Amino acid sequence: MMHNPHTPQHIAFIMDGNGRWAQARNLPRIKGHEAGAETIRKITTFCAENPMIETATFYAFSTENWKRPKTEIRFLMQLLLRYLKKERHTLRKHNIRFKAIGALDAFTAEIREQIDALEEETKHNTALTQIMALNYGGRLEITEAANRLIAQGKRQLTSEMLSEALQTPYSELDIMVRTGGEMRLSNFLLWQSSYAELFFTETMWPDFNEAELSKILKAYEGRERRFGAIHA
Ligand code: FPP
Repeated sequence: MMHNPHTPQHIAFIMDGNGRWAQARNLPRIKGHEAGAETIRKITTFCAENPMIETATFYAFSTENWKRPKTEIRFLMQLLLRYLKKERHTLRKHNIRFKAIGALDAFTAEIREQIDALEEETKHNTALTQIMALNYGGRLEITEAANRLIAQGKRQLTSEMLSEALQTPYSELDIMVRTGGEMRLSNFLLWQSSYAELFFTETMWPDFNEAELSKILKAYEGRERRFGAIHA
């Protein structure tokens, strides 16, 4: 697929700040995750209605998130299952294709079956591809892609070969948004973000909305992307 640098075809979100959003309201952290799941639905729908955006990737669970307290992890797993079940309706209504990336074998059979079913049912949908990064780590993704190529007998890897071997449908990312005030990538889409435009906002993920995303898209259009050259 040809990549047009002037329209944001692929946008990704690091959804930070759920816990702080809840704490600021004297709610348990898990309420922040619940509100965060609603934001995913809202933003996904918005992206599906924007003809320029082809793919939206959400960092829902990192390979490092297992270090959290067991009760929070148990809740996140329940929420994920509920989200996947409920999501079917949104995906169908808005013609969205669903895909999960990450080391999915760490999840229960029930979750994996839901993921497989959603991917299968939505594979012909065309308005947007929604990618959920689950037990995802950028370094792990790159390492596994390299190992797959080696297992196929390749002895000399090129960056084109690696790009194709990654789990994401295509390797370029146009916009990376991180909510919650921190300015780091946290091992998300390391390969794909080479030339991505980065946007950081203080807004906590549950408060992130369509209006703020519209502003980011406007600002993106105003940025000159040179991809290392002198003129675009
Ligand atoms: C960061 O908030 C968010 C995550 C750990 C994962 C994102 C999860 C969701 C948006 C909701 C769950 C959705 C699914 C589909 C499982 P944080 O807890 O790190 O916030 P903090 O930095 O304020 O503590």
